[in-house]
Amino acid sequence: MYINPFLFILPRPPGQVVWNYKNHTQHELDLDYSHRLASLIYNPDLFDPDNIIDIQLLDAGILTVSKIDSPNWGWDELSKIYHIGTQDIPCEHIPKNIHEWSRQYLAHCSEVLAKPAPSTGRKQQPAGTLINLPAPGAMKDDSLTQALLKRKTCRSYTGAAVTLDEVGTLLYFTLGYLPARKDSHDDPVAPGLEARRSSPSGGGLNACEGFLLAQNIVGLEPGIYAYHPDEHALSLVNPLPEPALGQMLGGQHFINNLPLGVFITARFDRLWWKYEHSRAYRMAFIEAGHLSQTFQLVATTLGLNTWLTGAFADAQIETLLGLEGSAEQPLFFIGCGESDGHAMCQEMRDLLCGVSS
Ligand SMILES: Cc1cc2nc3c(=O)[nH]c(=O)nc-3n(C[C@H](O)[C@H](O)[C@H](O)COP(=O)(O)O)c2cc1C
Repeated sequence: MYINPFLFILPRPPGQVVWNYKNHTQHELDLDYSHRLASLIYNPDLFDPDNIIDIQLLDAGILTVSKIDSPNWGWDELSKIYHIGTQDIPCEHIPKNIHEWSRQYLAHCSEVLAKPAPSTGRKQQPAGTLINLPAPGAMKDDSLTQALLKRKTCRSYTGAAVTLDEVGTLLYFTLGYLPARKDSHDDPVAPGLEARRSSPSGGGLNACEGFLLAQNIVGLEPGIYAYHPDEHALSLVNPLPEPALGQMLGGQHFINNLPLGVFITARFDRLWWKYEHSRAYRMAFIEAGHLSQTFQLVATTLGLNTWLTGAFADAQIETLLGLEGSAEQPLFFIGCGESDGHAMCQEMRDLLCGVSS
C-alpha cells in the first residue's frame, strides 16, 4: 500500500483536512481517522483490509494500491502544490459552442455583479495630499503612443489570414533573441546567458518560450510550431487539435477564428537552476506578462487586434505542445487577427440586446 504523493494536510480544529491537490478533493478527518492515517504514513504495510477506516482511506484515494509517480520538482513543495493544485480545474460543463459560452458567461457575470463590488478607489489618503500631474505629452515615438492607446482585447474576429511576414515580426519582437543586444554587453555576462529579448527576463535566463498556433497564415501549414528564438525559426510540433482549440480554452469558442496565437511556456528547470526558492515561481508569470504585453503592442502596431487567456485545460495543452511530463509548462495564451473591433463576440452582443430590450 502507498500514500498518495499529491496530498497535503491542513489543521482545521478540531479535525484535519487531507487535501488531494491534483484531483481537487478534500476529506475532513476526525481524531480516530487522523491517528490511523498517521500510523499508515509511518508504515503503509500496517494496512488492514478488515479495518473500515483503512478501506475508507483507500476509497478516498488517500492510500493507493500502486505507486503513483510524482514529477521531479526543483523548488520546495509550496510552488508544486500551487502549480499542480491550480491545474485542470474541474469544470461542470465546458460550453460546446459560442452560444453556450455566451449564456454561461453572462450568467456568471450577473451572479458576480449581484454582489457589492470592492471599492475602486485607492486606500483613503488624507485630504489635500493629491498632487495633480501634467497631462501626458507626446512621446518621441508616435507608434508606441498609438499602440498603447489602441491596444484592446477583442473577441470578434473575421478569420482573415495574416502573412508570414507579420508572424515573423510578431515572434521576433516578442520572443526572438536580439543580435544587437548580444554583441553590446558593456559589462561581463556569464557564458551562455548573453541572449536578450525586447522584454526583460528574470535572471536573464529567458525561461519563457513560445509555441505558435498557426490557424490561417499565408505560406504556413496550419499546426502547432515551436519557436526557436536563437535561429528565429519554427519547427512543427503537432497538427491543429480536434475539436477546435476553443474547447481547450475554457469553451471560449470565439477564438477559433484567430489566425494565429502564441502559447507562452516557462522552463521551470532553468529557473530552478539559478533560483532555489519557490518565490521564483512568481517570476515565471511576470516574465510571461511582459512577453504578452510586448506581443500585444507589436500586433496593435501591425493593425491587428488581440485576445489573451490563462484559462485552459492544462493537461490537454501540454499534450498539444508535446510537453507531457516535462519541466516546461504552459502559462498563458495570446492571439491576434483582424477584428471588427468589438470587445464582445456577436453572440454575446445579441444576448445582451435581448436581455436589455
Ligand atoms: C491575466 C489576464 C487574463 C485574461 N483572461 C481572459 C480570458 O480568459 N478571456 C478573455 O476573454 N479575456 C481575458 N483577459 C482580457 C481582459 O478581460 C481584458 O484585458 C479586460 O477586460 C480589459 O480590457 P482591455 O484589454 O480591452 O483593456 C485577460 C487579461 C489578463 C491580463
